[in-house]
Formats: sequence, C-alpha cells, structure tokens
Amino acid sequence: MSQDKPTILVTGGAGYIGSHAVKALQRAGYGVVVLDNLVYGHRDIVEEVLKVELVVGDTSDRPFLDRLFSTHHIDAVMHFSAYAYVGESVTDPAKYYRNNVIGTLTLLEAMMAASVKKFVFSSTCATYGVPNIVPIPEDHPQDPINPYGATKLMVERILADFDPAYDFKSVCFRYFNAAGADPDGLLGEDHNPETHLIPLVLMAALGKRDAISIFGTDYPTPDGTCIRDYIHVSDLADAHILGLEYLLGGGNSTAFNLGNGLGFSVKEVIDAAREITGREIKVIECDRRPGDPPALVGSSDKARTILGWQPQYPDIKDILSHAWKWHQKRHG
Ligand SMILES: NC(=O)c1ccc[n+]([C@@H]2O[C@H](COP(=O)([O-])OP(=O)(O)OC[C@H]3O[C@@H](n4cnc5c(N)ncnc54)[C@H](O)[C@@H]3O)[C@@H](O)[C@H]2O)c1
Repeated sequence: MSQDKPTILVTGGAGYIGSHAVKALQRAGYGVVVLDNLVYGHRDIVEEVLKVELVVGDTSDRPFLDRLFSTHHIDAVMHFSAYAYVGESVTDPAKYYRNNVIGTLTLLEAMMAASVKKFVFSSTCATYGVPNIVPIPEDHPQDPINPYGATKLMVERILADFDPAYDFKSVCFRYFNAAGADPDGLLGEDHNPETHLIPLVLMAALGKRDAISIFGTDYPTPDGTCIRDYIHVSDLADAHILGLEYLLGGGNSTAFNLGNGLGFSVKEVIDAAREITGREIKVIECDRRPGDPPALVGSSDKARTILGWQPQYPDIKDILSHAWKWHQKRHG
C-alpha cells in the first residue's frame, strides 16, 4: 500500500503497548517499521496480525542500527523497547541500566547520525517514586524508588539535554498502569512472566492460576487495598499519535502524564472482573510489599490541553471486558 505520510520506527513494536501503537499508526496512515529483539515480543503479532515489516535486532547494536537507518527512510522513532520488571530491576540493576539506558543512548546516537531527530519515549509514573500529592502533576518531583524508574528518569534527563545541544525533539509519556486490549480483539497483553494485576486476575478467572494475591489490605484507602490508575492501552496508543503529530508540527520537547485521573483499588478491580467474566476468582490476602505506595493516580490535564487527548475507555469495565475478550482468545 502506498502512503505519503512519514514512516515511523517503532522499537518494541512486538510487545504489548508497542503493538497497539503500530495499529494506531497504520490506521492514521503512517508507514511503520518494527524493531524488536523478540526477547519478550511476539513475532506472530507483527507479521500475521499487524502485517508490517519486522526487523529483528537490538537497540544496543550500533552497526545493526546504522544499517537499519541507511536502508530505511525513517522520519521519527517511537521507543517502547525496554525491560520493565520492577522486582528484577532491584535484583539485577545492571541488566536494566544496560538495556534501558545504554540501549536507548545507542539508539539516540544512531538516530542523530541518520539525522532523525524526533522521538516519542515510553516513560513511567515510576519516575515519581512515592507521591506527595495525588493526582500527580508533571511538575511533581521525580525521585524513583527502584532501578527501573531510575533508568527511565535517566533517559528523560538525556533527552532534556539533547534538545538544546542537538536540536533533538522528544515527547516523554509517563504512563500509569497500561491495561485492557484492542477493542477489535486482535491484540492484547501477553507478558511472560506476567506481573500486572488485570491479566493475573483474568488468568485466575480462566482457571490458569489458582488465585490472585492481594498485597496489603490495611492501606489508608476506603477498602484498605492499593489504588492505581488504569489507562486503556488503545487510549495510550492514540496519545502517541497525538504526541508524534505535535513533534512533526514543530512542538518543543516536553513530558506528559498518561493516566485516567481515576483510581481503582485492587478489590474494585477484582470485583469488576468477577462481574465481567461471571467467573469465581479466588483471592489470597497477603502482607504489604515494600515500596508499594497506597495510591498512584495521575493528572493528565496537560495531555488533554496541549495534545487534545481524550481517553475513549476510562471505565474499568470496558478495560476489563476488552482484556477478557483477548485473554479468552489467546489463553482460553
Ligand atoms: N505496561 C505498563 O503498564 C507500562 C507502564 C509504564 C511504562 N511502560 C513502558 O512501556 C514500554 C512498553 O511496555 P510493554 O508493557 O509493552 O512491554 P513489553 O515487554 O510487552 O514490550 C517491550 C518490547 O521491547 C522488546 N525489547 C526489549 N529490549 C529490547 C532491545 N534492547 N532491543 C529491541 N527490542 C527490545 C521486547 O522484546 C518487547 O517486545 C516499556 O518501555 C515500559 O517500560 C509500561
């Protein structure tokens, strides 16, 4: 299919959020090339579902990147690839600094060598650490409490320095909890290992797990369980198109939170999942985990105002029902 819109390199496009962004880019008429080392990504999703070019390689491999940029005309990069297991980042921080920081720096240098200077980056609310106020605004102090969050903050700092030095323009999106699945049922969350609440709850509903653990029931929240901000993955993907268009239109480097602005407790998510699936979901109440703040909810007013972003699926029941459709298809 011929297209006259820019071509976007999507790193990590074989993963959860990246694959949804690829679908949104295709729908908006952009050319797409996916770069993924397939450590966690799914070849079948890129080649058989999305049907876009997959270049298998690593963001730390500079000769590989130089070849990619010399053989493909790329106008901008959306950078989803990273390691994202918070617990593993504590036990093996070197792995995280190498992939998330050095891998990203290598990619940025290869981009500049190819004169590609527009970059959309997957950052995280984990850069804020334990918040002083909720909903968290973008100018809240960034003080991560784990190496994963620190790697993302380091990349944000690199990007802030690259703009005045090299005229390199970037948008950092600090996601809250990405959740849900493509409403058409073609894409969804398939991490292995899985650590996120909603897929774990749905695997319990499918009978693939015995029960779901609730870590802490004595937090200062209405039902005692932690409150998190769940943002539909298709809404995240739409924000990436708006962020890209902001940069292509000459926008300055900046950062945006992407969340619902609504918090749901662990118990509320489990109750809603029982309702959506009609299945029994056993829970085990456990002690708190160290480092889990009681409530993490973001203010996305800046993205709404500057980008005109409007989440389509803020309701936790939509998020769960789209995820349930995908889980039944992929894991049922
Ligand atoms: N899932 C969330 O709730 C969430 C929240 C905040 C931020 N993020 C960030 O969003 C991004 C995407 O998250 P996800 O949940 O889709 O993760 P994912 O693991 O599903 O996708 C990441 C993809 O990157 C690939 N990859 C990793 N290292 C690579 C490398 N060096 N070279 C090439 N490919 C590599 C993996 O194979 C995988 O396909 C990550 O940067 C993550 O830190 C995710």
